[in-house]
Amino acid sequence: MEEIRVVIGGRTASRVISADSLQALTPLLEAYPKVFLVYDRNVAWVAQEIAAACPPAGMKVLDASEKAKDMATVLDLCSWLLEAGADRSSLLLAVGGGITTDLAGFAACIYRRGIRFAFVPTTLLAQVDAAIGGKTGVNFLDFKNMLGVIRQPEFTFECAQVLRTLPRRDFLSGAAELLKTFLIDNTGNAYEKAVALLSAPADSATLQTLIAAAAKVKAGIVSRDEQERGERRCLNLGHTFAHAIEHEARQAGLDVTHGEAVAVGILLAARLSEAMGLAPKGLAARLEADWTACGLPTGVPFDPATLTAAMTKDKKAEGDTIHFVLLSSIGQVEIRKISAAEATALLI
Ligand code: GLY
Repeated sequence: MEEIRVVIGGRTASRVISADSLQALTPLLEAYPKVFLVYDRNVAWVAQEIAAACPPAGMKVLDASEKAKDMATVLDLCSWLLEAGADRSSLLLAVGGGITTDLAGFAACIYRRGIRFAFVPTTLLAQVDAAIGGKTGVNFLDFKNMLGVIRQPEFTFECAQVLRTLPRRDFLSGAAELLKTFLIDNTGNAYEKAVALLSAPADSATLQTLIAAAAKVKAGIVSRDEQERGERRCLNLGHTFAHAIEHEARQAGLDVTHGEAVAVGILLAARLSEAMGLAPKGLAARLEADWTACGLPTGVPFDPATLTAAMTKDKKAEGDTIHFVLLSSIGQVEIRKISAAEATALLI
């Protein structure tokens, strides 16, 4: 078992516990007088295993989807907590992917002005990104994650075993975020190790080690910049292009996962970095070869002009300029403020 701390203002604000079995969760839960468990229906088996070892005071199933990631679901969770008798000493435990952890985390943040919460992420994407760092929230009107707060979970419990029922496409979606993390910080050549792991048949022990390594990178970034004033923006590597791709895919009725869009977005960020003279020639081609080996997509489904228009609508755009996260090498990123039109012109 490994423990990674998120330290904010000199105190431990959250812990990421990495363990190779769900059994290690029981003593953590026993520290709370009452635990309420909310879980995504797709991973009912994980919730049942947890509940059998440590019976919760209440249990609720969610059908997590981007469409149901809204205030109505949060209010429904709050009603359930109230009816089930959750008080200020209770812990809300969320078991599921990033949608479930975002919904439950946000409900916990507002119920009785905030109760404690913890996560057992069951997707690779949530394990390496969404369930660490305290961002919680819901979609509002047509905007993703428009309502929310940043408040740290008590702990995030990471166990590669729970990924065994994750569909391959969802696993690859998380793989894009895993590789993104190591492109930002390649301590111990984690990027090369991740490419090797993802190019070969799954090896659970190595996967657990890499998930913990990614959690360490993210916990470090959040510890230094919880409120995303500077360094935390690095975690958006590939995301400016990815959000534009996702937006256009929705308009065109195309089925593109977040991770697939991030994978392509990172390649575009690498090409832009080369065109701006920040990255050595050949970096983008190397990443493209790695993506192909890992089974990630490399083709850009829209033309540059379409992506430019979508990027200027991004909620993180400031007027016409955007903070682009660029790559100078594997393990080193740089943020530059440029216009979407300028970026696109360099990519043509
Ligand atoms: N998912 C990016 C962040 O937590 O800042």
